[in-house]
Amino acid sequence: MFIKSFGCQMNVYDAGRMADVLAPEGFLETATIEEADLIILNTCHIRERAAEKVFSELGKIRDLKSDRASLGLSTTLAVAGCVAQAEGAEILRRQPAVDLVVGPQSYHRLPDLVSRARGGIKVLDTDFPADDKFAALPQPAEAKTRSRGLSSFVTVQEGCDKFCTFCVVPYTRGAEYSRGPEQVMAEIAGLTAAGVREVSLLGQNVNAYHGVAQDGSVWSLAQLVRAIAAMPGILRIRYTTSHPNDMAADLVEAHRDIPALMPFLHLPVQSGSDRILAAMNRKHTVADYRAEIARVRAARPDIALSSDFIVGFPGETDADFEATLDLIREIGFASTFSFKYSPRPGTPGAVLDGHVKEAIKRDRLARLQAVVDPQRQAFNAACVGRVMPVLFEKIGRHAGQIVGKSPYLQPVQVDADPALIGSVRDVEITALGPNSLFGTLTEAEPPSRAAQGS
Ligand code: 5AD
Ligand code: SF4
Repeated sequence: MFIKSFGCQMNVYDAGRMADVLAPEGFLETATIEEADLIILNTCHIRERAAEKVFSELGKIRDLKSDRASLGLSTTLAVAGCVAQAEGAEILRRQPAVDLVVGPQSYHRLPDLVSRARGGIKVLDTDFPADDKFAALPQPAEAKTRSRGLSSFVTVQEGCDKFCTFCVVPYTRGAEYSRGPEQVMAEIAGLTAAGVREVSLLGQNVNAYHGVAQDGSVWSLAQLVRAIAAMPGILRIRYTTSHPNDMAADLVEAHRDIPALMPFLHLPVQSGSDRILAAMNRKHTVADYRAEIARVRAARPDIALSSDFIVGFPGETDADFEATLDLIREIGFASTFSFKYSPRPGTPGAVLDGHVKEAIKRDRLARLQAVVDPQRQAFNAACVGRVMPVLFEKIGRHAGQIVGKSPYLQPVQVDADPALIGSVRDVEITALGPNSLFGTLTEAEPPSRAAQGS
C-alpha cells in the first residue's frame, strides 16, 4: 500500500490513521508507489485548480496501473481527502482507473470499502455519517506497525461552522465536531508509550474546541492543553489552526502558565482591510485582531506569530492591499503563508463581483512576500545569542551532531551526545545557517524546565 498525501497537517494525520486501519488487513506501506497493490491519493482542495491537479496525478497512476497489469499485478486505486469529498462521483466518471472514492468522514470504513473495490465494484462513500469515526479508528497503541518518531499530530477537532466566503472546509469537512477529551488523552497516552514527546493538536478551527467529557462537562482547548501537559512523557504541545474570534481568555492564560505549550501561534488574519474582512465573512475587524495579538503578547512576551494571507480577494483595491502590508509591518510575523485568491466552486466568494486580474494578484503576492521574507529572516537572525530549549529528535548529518527543534520549529544542530535524543535541553544559538540554526549546550547541564519529568 502507498498513501500519497497532499495539503495540510490534517491530511498527514489522516494518512497515518488510514495506514493504521488498513494494517490489520495485511496492507503494509511500500517504499515506492510502483510496488503498491493499493494506492491512496489523499487530496487537498485548498490550493488553486486542486481538482485538475488530482486528475493529472490520476492519469499518471492509471499508466502505472496498466504497467503493473501487464506484469499480472492488480492495483486498487482510491481517492481520499477533500477533493474526494467535493468531487465525489465526478472522479469515478472522469477517471475509470479509480476504484474507490472516500471522504474524510469515512476512513474507519476503509477495510470494508477496499475489499468491495477489490471485488470489482466501484465504491463511493462521501457521506457525513453519524457514527464516530474517531472511536472506530484503531488507537495508535493498537497500531503497532507504525513508528512515529518524537512528534505526532493528533486531530482533536474537525470541520468548521464559520463559513468564510473563500473557504471550502465547511463543505468538505462538514460541521464542527470536537472529540471527547478522554478519547484524545487515551490516544496521546498510546503515543507517549511509543516514544512521542511532542503533540500538535489539529483542527480546522482548533481553538473553537469544545469536547464533551464523559461526565457531561464541556472542555475548552485550554483545559485540554492543561490536562495533556500533566501527562507523563509529554514535553511539548502545539495547536493549529486557530480563528482570531476563538482566542479565549483561558487559552491566552495557558500560554502564560504552561511551559509545555510552545510560544508559537498560527493565527490567520487573511487581510488587513476591514472591508475585505467583512466580505470574507471573517466576523472580526483589524482592530480585533490587533487586540488579540496584544493580549497574547502580554501573556507570553516571547511568543512568535504566524499567519495566512489571501491577496486579490474579489473587490480588493490597492488601498485594501496596502492596509494588509501595513498590518504585517506593524505586527511582525516569524512565518507566513500567502495565497492568491482562487475561487472555489460552491463558495459565496466565487460569485462575488469584482474579481481581481491574475496579473494584479501575482504582483500583490510578490509584494507581500517581499515584506514577510525579511521579517522571517530577521526573526531567525534575532535568535542568535538567545538560549532556547531544544527537543532533540535525531542524529545530524555530520559526525557528532544531533538535531532538534526550537520552540519556533526551527531545526537546531548541536554537537552533543545522541543519548540526549528524546529530551529537551537548553541551547545557546551561535549561528544562523541557510535552513537551520547552530548552537551549543549551555554550560550548566541540568535539564531545562520543559524537560523535567521526562
Ligand atoms: N483561495 C486562496 N487561499 C485560500 N485559502 C483557503 N481558501 C482559499 C482560496 N479559495 C487559504 C487561507 C487559509 C489557508 C489554509 O488557505 O489563507 O487560511
Ligand atoms: Fe475555512 Fe478557517 Fe474560515 Fe472555517 S474559519 S471557513 S476553516 S478559513
